[in-house]
Amino acid sequence: MDRRRFLQSSSLIAAATAAATLQPTAWAAAAQVPALPIPPRLVADAQGRVVLTAQTGTSRLRGARATATWGFNGALLGPALVLPRGKPVTVEVRNRLPQPTSLHWHGLLIPGRADGGPESPIAPGQSWTAQLQTDQPAATAWYHPHPHHTSGLHVAMGLAGLILIDDPDSAIAALPQRWGVDDIPLVLQDKRLNASGQIDYQLDAMTAAVGWFGDLMLTNGVAAPQHRAPRGWLRLRLLNGCNARTLNLATSDGRTLYVIASDGGFLAEPVALKTLEILPGERFEVMVDARSGTPFDLQTRPVMQMGMTLPPFDAPVTLLRVQPAGDAGPGRLPDRLATLPALPGASALKTLTQRRLALSMNPMLDAQGMQALMARYGMQAMAGMPMDHSSGHGEHGAMKLDLHSANLINGQAFDAARPLFDARVGQPERWTITGAGDMMRHPFHIHGTQFRILSENGRAPAAHRCGWKDTVHVENATSEVLVRFTRTADRAKPYMAHCHVLEHEDTGMMAAFTVSA
Ligand code: C2O
Ligand code: CU
Ligand code: CU
Repeated sequence: MDRRRFLQSSSLIAAATAAATLQPTAWAAAAQVPALPIPPRLVADAQGRVVLTAQTGTSRLRGARATATWGFNGALLGPALVLPRGKPVTVEVRNRLPQPTSLHWHGLLIPGRADGGPESPIAPGQSWTAQLQTDQPAATAWYHPHPHHTSGLHVAMGLAGLILIDDPDSAIAALPQRWGVDDIPLVLQDKRLNASGQIDYQLDAMTAAVGWFGDLMLTNGVAAPQHRAPRGWLRLRLLNGCNARTLNLATSDGRTLYVIASDGGFLAEPVALKTLEILPGERFEVMVDARSGTPFDLQTRPVMQMGMTLPPFDAPVTLLRVQPAGDAGPGRLPDRLATLPALPGASALKTLTQRRLALSMNPMLDAQGMQALMARYGMQAMAGMPMDHSSGHGEHGAMKLDLHSANLINGQAFDAARPLFDARVGQPERWTITGAGDMMRHPFHIHGTQFRILSENGRAPAAHRCGWKDTVHVENATSEVLVRFTRTADRAKPYMAHCHVLEHEDTGMMAAFTVSA
């Protein structure tokens, strides 16, 4: 409830700030529409080895101004890492950043020691080697840093890339297969730049409460790019790589989005939608019919977040302009995609181990804390308030809030040394995750598994959210998921379960857990 009150007061100031910083559109009209950059596919060499180097660079994100960015094997984002099902791939991750990082493989069923969570830090100048051998169906997953307290910063700076699990058994020959032509990867992220054109990232009381939101939408690192596609069926591999923003995809002319895959692989059959919400961390694969040759835009439409929509997101924002030209390929939309195992019935579900996770905001950050902060420092000052690494509560009580425990699971902030529980390999479990009813969407993600959604925020899951998932929507009610682990994770390298609003993750809304054989 208190997050709600805080949001209502902060939204007025945020709206004023956003209006004041809106860029004139003249440059956009004058400039050429940039082409959609396609991340190259990164395939292991004959020895099964591959290198990812986290490095600094500069990119042009808005106008001609150079922005300092971070990327893998380049200045921004990273290549699409191809992992053939069942084959070992050794990834050497080199850290050439000025600070420690880590690298997590979001969506992969791999042991805790390879998972790359906050307990596997890589110091500047050092490298870390992960053995990735996945045994899971074809899917679009992703990799991103997961360092303690700084995941949001590292992703905001540009560190993220797709993972393509290549599985001939679950691949569907009828689908478009030409990478970057009719099989199109789209990494969607919002950013905020400061007056000197640099990424304006803050982890402070305000972003700990609501997440970091930008006012500039990028697709593969470029604002509103254009793709010259064949006149045929297009397969879009979508990643919401935003720190906190939920996207609501649609086409400019209302043409249908046929969802064919979710986080962990293909659905049973395509699901036709006019709008598709994607929460931070989620992936969907969508087919779009471009056979007519008529150009269209892929957009994100307004969606309430934190109880409001701020410019430019109060109107449709273009993510991609599609210009169909040239010959169609052989790709088409199949009727059937995959066979998903039937879910257990209600009585069988009752016999499963149940885990309960309750998401909440630290009362320290609630009414009193927020009001005291605002009264004393004003919202503008608070938005730039540095993190306080001590957790003592002195006479300036509100200032002494440790932002690292601003958000909680079961009343506790993240503590790697205190795993919540130990699950067993191969044993299905029922997890119930409950929000605090405070208007915040929590995209809740679990490492080491692809689960099935039994109920989502108090309702039956929508058809396109009934397949393999690693992230579930939790807002003001309870979501239930059927979880199973296939690998182990010990106390030294536990798995994580956390909100994928990265500022919630970085400020405590994360739990470690172990899985034993
Ligand atoms: Cu995408 Cu624990 O993360
Ligand atoms: Cu993950
Ligand atoms: Cu959250």
